Amino acid sequence: MAHNSEEFVVTPWEVRGKVNYEYLIKVFGVKPLTDQVLNELKEVLGGELHLLLRRKIFFAHRGLEWAIKDIKEGRRLFLYTGRGPSGPMHVGHLLPFIFTKWLQDKLSINVYIEITDDEKFLHEPKASYEEIRKWAYDNMLDIIAVGFDPNKTFIFLDTEYMGRVYPLLVKVAKRINFSEVSAIFGFTQSTNIGLIFFPTFQIAVTFFEKRRSLIPSAIDQDPYWRLQHDIAKGLGFYKASTIYTKFLPPLTGPTGKMSTSNPDSALFLTDDDKTIYRKIMKAYSGGQPTAELHRKYGGNPDIDVAFQWLKFLFEEDDNKLKKIEEDYRSGTLLTGELKLYLYEKVVKFMERHRERREKAKELIRLYMYEGELAREMWSRDFSKW
Ligand code: TYM
Repeated sequence: MAHNSEEFVVTPWEVRGKVNYEYLIKVFGVKPLTDQVLNELKEVLGGELHLLLRRKIFFAHRGLEWAIKDIKEGRRLFLYTGRGPSGPMHVGHLLPFIFTKWLQDKLSINVYIEITDDEKFLHEPKASYEEIRKWAYDNMLDIIAVGFDPNKTFIFLDTEYMGRVYPLLVKVAKRINFSEVSAIFGFTQSTNIGLIFFPTFQIAVTFFEKRRSLIPSAIDQDPYWRLQHDIAKGLGFYKASTIYTKFLPPLTGPTGKMSTSNPDSALFLTDDDKTIYRKIMKAYSGGQPTAELHRKYGGNPDIDVAFQWLKFLFEEDDNKLKKIEEDYRSGTLLTGELKLYLYEKVVKFMERHRERREKAKELIRLYMYEGELAREMWSRDFSKW
């Protein structure tokens, strides 16, 4: 179900307003990631939790307990995530990929990465197919830079892999009627029929193995997984276990989503250091208007974008993060100092990302065609699946 209300909107194609996550948990009918679930996860993953879990940035799930039980009882899972290539990728888009890679390292299992060029072409009224394809290749470099195992990871472009998988898609499509997808995705009589068919593909990837999939994504993708739960059993496949991250807040403030149409709202993975500096320095802050007032009254890290970005991704050390939070609240740490600290962290991160992104140009064939899993998937006969 896509959530639409006067205060905020979250659908797979739109995030507007200030997202109330507690409320979303209720209206989407997902479960919060409780300490108990986190402890169980910690146990089956060998005693360590990624900072995205420790800090409850991943905050909700659907059926994660099934995946935990599978791991506990020795059943293999597979991982699945994706990207709709409508423009350059920003730092927020990386969160599900970074987390998926961490899970792949822990569990040593296959990862499927769907690049939904079809979805973005069909959804964006003005997008040309050539433009979307160009972004698809560009985005794949950012994804590969995250460092997935090339023999256990298959990255595919929907329009290219479509032929192979079509027999499975028609089986999925036959189980879903228009009134269901229109209720879930808000399709209307004027929605083009390509977009109406598209969800079958995003769902079908959860059936690429006859095992349970574990899907990290932001909460906006939940409508697909709800539908997956409705049809999986009937087709003889497993219901997916999903885990949802919050949105990395835009640089421009706590409302809405980072977007290409407002470049100052996000850091793109191809931004240079000068641009990064400029964007961070003018980011929305929870500090006081003057240094004097800040020292006197302190700042508010809960709404401060620089602090939130450190918390979401850029400060790995929990103790340091805590100290920064305290100092900012008390007023000893000034907004400018906090931003500079974030800038230095981001520059280091980007330096490493740029290097790996360059190397990715040579690795792309492995992930798409030549790695072990890719070869297996290109010879798969889905008519017998
Ligand atoms: P897309 O391209 O809109 O987004 C890619 C992934 O990033 C998540 N995301 C964010 N995460 C953190 N902070 C943000 N600000 C933020 N904005 C977006 C999205 O939830 C997504 O996980 N239809 C999908 C592509 C897809 C997919 C999948 C995603 C196909 N199969 C399976 C996840 C799992 C899309 O257009 O994602």
